[in-house]
Amino acid sequence: MKHLLSIEALSVVEIREILNLAKKLKSMRGQHDPNPLDGECWGLLFSKSSTRTRVSFEVGIRELGGEALFLSSSEIQLGRGEPIEDTARVLGRMIHGAVIRTFKQSDIETFAALSGIPTINALTDEEHPCQILADLQTIEELRGSLEGLKIAFIGDADCNMGRSWIWAAARLGFDLRLACPALYTPPAELLARAKAVGGSVTITEDPEEAAHGADILYTDVWVSMGKEEEAEHRAAQFAPYQINDRVVAAAAPGAHVLHCLPAYRGKEITAQVFEHHADAIFQQAENRLHAQKAVMTLLKS
Ligand code: CP
Ligand code: NVA
Repeated sequence: MKHLLSIEALSVVEIREILNLAKKLKSMRGQHDPNPLDGECWGLLFSKSSTRTRVSFEVGIRELGGEALFLSSSEIQLGRGEPIEDTARVLGRMIHGAVIRTFKQSDIETFAALSGIPTINALTDEEHPCQILADLQTIEELRGSLEGLKIAFIGDADCNMGRSWIWAAARLGFDLRLACPALYTPPAELLARAKAVGGSVTITEDPEEAAHGADILYTDVWVSMGKEEEAEHRAAQFAPYQINDRVVAAAAPGAHVLHCLPAYRGKEITAQVFEHHADAIFQQAENRLHAQKAVMTLLKS
């Protein structure tokens, strides 16, 4: 595996390999030998805000023996209009790997193609593969296995998280239900492509129908980064798509509630549901570190 650009581009074998190594790295944190990034310097190119992704990569790179260089787009020439093609060809001659958070998926693909160095998608408008890998790791820890699980995603199903979940369901073959307003349904073309791969993805406008008998309830912000101008409209559209006591009651007994964070209480999730499931949600956040260390180790090999 040379890059991690999307869940769509991963095979089941690669996903399994990452999850297995993430589990091992978590259990042996602090005793990594040899350090696969020894002598390397990785660049983090971020055009959007981040807490978890930035910190987990910076810490992860150091724990693997490398050094991390945080490059905010507002401080490098990329933010003043230097093309991604030129940025890739410059950085490819200096750094050993790149972790990129940006808007267009095509920018990440271009960077990967032209830089010649391992490139990781740290979130685009289309996918958030690092988050999904940590989520899958967390679900395996909580439930023992992903086998036969029913997962309900409630909210903006057409955002990066909704789309990455669709590809995870397609690759791993689980039952994914998406509950969203009709306008926020992922494109039919994407759904058809995913369906051809596998899994079962059903879409409904009724959050309780999606939650019915689900083992995992999952949500994300209603207003993704870059969509701030639509905040008011989205708040009205998504108001019925909150994970609250009623939605939790529709799920299977003992269902887990997960959230990729940051969470907006009173919007996509109630404060009460959030706090009740906070242990699992923060376990999910911690697993960003372990899953990404596994990815960086495997990109090297
Ligand atoms: N979940 C996630 O990617 O968080 P950050 O935006 O804080 O990195
Ligand atoms: N869909 C959200 C995910 C944040 C981790 C966003 O893109 O802002």
